[in-house]
Amino acid sequence: MRSVRLHARATTFDRLLKPVHRWIWRNIERRVQKLLRFSEIEIDGGRDILRAAELTSDPVLRRLYLEHAIDEFRHGLMFRQRAGSVLRELPLRSNRMFQLDWPATGGHGLDDLQIEKESDGSLLAFLHLSEKAAASRFTIYRDVMQHDPPTRAIFAEILNDERFHMSYTLTHLARVAPERHRRHLWRARLSRLWKGYLRLATALASALGALILTIQYFVVLPPFAWLAKRAARRESPGWFPVSSERNGSLRRQY
Ligand SMILES: [Fe+2]
Ligand SMILES: [Fe+2]
Repeated sequence: MRSVRLHARATTFDRLLKPVHRWIWRNIERRVQKLLRFSEIEIDGGRDILRAAELTSDPVLRRLYLEHAIDEFRHGLMFRQRAGSVLRELPLRSNRMFQLDWPATGGHGLDDLQIEKESDGSLLAFLHLSEKAAASRFTIYRDVMQHDPPTRAIFAEILNDERFHMSYTLTHLARVAPERHRRHLWRARLSRLWKGYLRLATALASALGALILTIQYFVVLPPFAWLAKRAARRESPGWFPVSSERNGSLRRQY
C-alpha cells in the first residue's frame, strides 16, 4: 500500500509565497514557534483520524486510518523534538521569551471538522484535500530550509508520508463512492474555501479594529487632553478659602 504515491507539486500560490516563507523560517525564534505549532496540529489531526478509525465500518479504511493516525503522531513528535533541539541552541534571553509564547494554537483544517457527522466519502475527500495542501506547503518548506539541514530532512521525510496520505485517500474515495467521489471533492473544496474566507475575514476585522482604535487614540483623545490641561491651568495653585454657603457645620456626610 505504501508504494501508492501521487506526485505532489507545490501550488502556484505557495510557490509565489516562497520568499515570504524563506523570510519566516530564517528567523530562529519564529522557526521554533512554527515547529511547535506544527507539532500540535499533527497530533490533533492524528487524534481525529484515530476517531475516524473507531467509527468506520470499512475494515480496509480502519487499518489505513490507524496507520495514518500513527504517522501524524510521529510527525508531531518529530516536530516537537526538532523544536526542542533548536530551542536549546537559542541564547538564554530568547529562550525565556519563548516559554511565554509556548501555548501556540493552530488549525490544520480538521479542527473544525466533526468526525462523527462525516461519511467515509466526505471524510476521505476532506482528508485528501488537507493532505494535498500539506504536501504543497511542506515541499516549499523543504526547499527554503537549506540553512537548516536537520529541519529540512524532517520536512522531506514527512512530505513522503503526506504524499502517501494524499494518494490513499483519493484511491479509497473512488472505491467507497464511485459515483459521487467528484461531488464529495467539490463539496470539500467549497467547505475549505468558505473556512479560508472566514479566517481571512476574522483576521481583517481584527486588523481593522486595531487601526480604528489607534486612529481614535490619536484623533479623538488629544482634544480632551488639551481641555483637561487648560482647565488645570485655570485652577489657582495651593490652598484657598471655601465659600460661606459650602462652609456649614458637618451634620451630614455629604
Ligand atoms: Fe502529517
Ligand atoms: Fe498527513
